[in-house]
Amino acid sequence: MQVIEDRGAHPRVQLGLWPTAVHRDDQLGSVLGASDGQLWLKRDDLSGFSWGGNKVRSIEFLLGAALAENATDIVLAGGPSSNFAALMAAAARTVGLSVQQFSYGVEPNGFVAGLMFGRSMGARVIFTGSNDRSMMDIAAERYCAEATIAGARPYRIPRGGASPVGALGFYAAAEELDGQAHVDLPTTIVLPLGSGGSTAGLVAGFCSSTRPWRVYAISVSRDPTGIEDTIIETAIACAGLHGKSIDPAEVSSRLEVCDGRDPGFGKVSSEQRSLMAEVTSATGLPVDPTYNAKALAWLKAAFRAGTFSSLPVLYWNTGGALGAIDHMGALGRKSTT
Ligand SMILES: Cc1ncc(COP(=O)(O)O)c(C=O)c1O
Repeated sequence: MQVIEDRGAHPRVQLGLWPTAVHRDDQLGSVLGASDGQLWLKRDDLSGFSWGGNKVRSIEFLLGAALAENATDIVLAGGPSSNFAALMAAAARTVGLSVQQFSYGVEPNGFVAGLMFGRSMGARVIFTGSNDRSMMDIAAERYCAEATIAGARPYRIPRGGASPVGALGFYAAAEELDGQAHVDLPTTIVLPLGSGGSTAGLVAGFCSSTRPWRVYAISVSRDPTGIEDTIIETAIACAGLHGKSIDPAEVSSRLEVCDGRDPGFGKVSSEQRSLMAEVTSATGLPVDPTYNAKALAWLKAAFRAGTFSSLPVLYWNTGGALGAIDHMGALGRKSTT
């Protein structure tokens, strides 16, 4: 484990294996209704630390910042199946820190892979008892205030790691992709959107590039109109950490936030369930139900509607292996009952 300085002197803990692979995928393209050669994949499912996924990118910078501030522990809010919380627990443990995770609701009845893994990595998970998600943040804030008075130095992270520091991970990913563009990569990117930290960093990074990158971010949980302003704000603050000033209009011109929430956060429709099975059968790629199933379903519908015409598209696979395991567990239970 190594703490390295990014070029802009942002502390960063080296966890992943970069760059992640990028390749054309005609098999996946054919499942989604793309024409031959039209679909490319960016493989953040293979990001090289723990269960992989996009969150490794933000965790490198968030953990770097926590270490630079001599934090005593990491404090975050996240649901029981949060990939971010589980991966942060593993990453924090490698540098001797532990995670306090404030979660909504009550202890789930069945097996939840992310929760079990996070706990096995030393995370202390506290359930608020309320389904109101904002209560997780209030509980986390209260914990930080009390811990600080008691002499600790908690490092507080917003949901999904979506702070300007967390967005530095995808700012670096934009530079990474720019560096891979020696092959004729598509400049139209599609990826799932949750908290918005990944999209914010990506768009901020693209604003510094001469290539005409454009991002279609498929919102799986939040109202697209509301989250767009937050993404623009985070992107501007993230670019500011690199000493760059970017215009909100430029961020907007490179960003399209689309609604992929159907049939609700964490739920899959029967069409989405069939698509997940079809994708895995054709390519071997596991698909998580919360993020990639919805974004891929959106992409399939977009190809059908002719949204991209013959324009090549790069799908940014963000991983989510723990969610895919939960999904298989649920299917397994159904087939045996
Ligand atoms: C597998 C996966 N994909 C996509 C996302 C969305 O990323 P963001 O929250 O940065 O928008 C998440 C968020 O947790 C995730 O776990």
